[in-house]
Amino acid sequence: EKGGYDYFMLKEIAEQPKAVADTLLGRIDAGGSLTLDELRISAAELREVDKVVIVACGTAFHAGLIAKYAIEHWTRIPCEVELASEFRYRDPILGARSLVIAISQSGETMDTLMALRHAREQGSKVLAICNTNGSTIPRESDAVLYTHAGPEVAVASTKAFLTQLVACYLVALYLGQVRGTKWGDEIGAVIRDLSHISGEVERVLETMEPVRELARSLADKNTVLFLGRHVGYPVALEGALKLKELAYMHAEGFAAGELKHGPIALIEPDLPVVVVVPSPRGRSVLHDKIVSNIQEIRARGARTIVIAEEGDEAVVPYADHLVRIPATPTLLQPLVATVPLQVFACELATARGNEVDQPRNLAKSVTVE
Ligand code: F6R
Repeated sequence: EKGGYDYFMLKEIAEQPKAVADTLLGRIDAGGSLTLDELRISAAELREVDKVVIVACGTAFHAGLIAKYAIEHWTRIPCEVELASEFRYRDPILGARSLVIAISQSGETMDTLMALRHAREQGSKVLAICNTNGSTIPRESDAVLYTHAGPEVAVASTKAFLTQLVACYLVALYLGQVRGTKWGDEIGAVIRDLSHISGEVERVLETMEPVRELARSLADKNTVLFLGRHVGYPVALEGALKLKELAYMHAEGFAAGELKHGPIALIEPDLPVVVVVPSPRGRSVLHDKIVSNIQEIRARGARTIVIAEEGDEAVVPYADHLVRIPATPTLLQPLVATVPLQVFACELATARGNEVDQPRNLAKSVTVE
């Protein structure tokens, strides 16, 4: 049942191109429009939405953080993202025009379920993004968009995360479509790129051997830091979470701009720091800023592991290890940038002799609050 792989996690990482393609299947028509008829919230209701609130836990929360960038940029609707376990305890401001999106692979996470119940009590519509047919969260929601990752067995979420991102992009684009947001060339290009993205994920998977080798060489380290900006920031958080849960190492993700406000004090000789670099073509200001961050940490002795787009030459002089990812539109980069971090964590955990599919103290679905 592991399909020739040693671990379910390896199998599920390898299944990501298919999971992404399956989640897009039938949802983008030949003309490049989105058809999400399965969404049981009417176009009229979606036009009324004045705020989007995303609730989720763990890896699904990281998908939500990325979704915020896409929703606000493509639809101009304000979007908040909150840990489901915090949400209902702070008396959040919700109403009939708030659209609450609950993201959950299992559909059984108690924190997320309680958050969505709270939202419905306030009269808000809840849309579930879920991977498990007929599970509790979609059953209790007003609408559901299923991710088609297939069953995820390994405790650490991988393919579910990529498909959650795809579902979030689809919802964001659909909201823009039904609301008639003025779409320039950018959106058309994004939809085109999204429909080819599973091939790009496949290409990343084909080039992972050096990442595995690097991970094995770091097996005796205690700490790894992750830096990113814009959508690369949640990717950094996800990379750190994977390493904590699988390798039992101290791993932390930071927004690279925060480095100078504290975390730079952690930099010491030979500390591995993974940096997710935004495209030099998109928000080039951010790209240049992150290149100076890499310079700064390297000057303090950090071992820099740089994840950067193909053709980005500016990072080359400062990268101790360079991991190339295909060029994508800025907002889609997490779909390719996360993959090396999953492989990295999985391989490091194996090198440390840990049980990859069943990390200590963790359960696949967390049905207690
Ligand atoms: C991390 C991981 C967890 C889950 C979280 C939410 O690899 O698996 O952080 O993402 O417990 O679970 P779901 O998505 O089932 O609600």
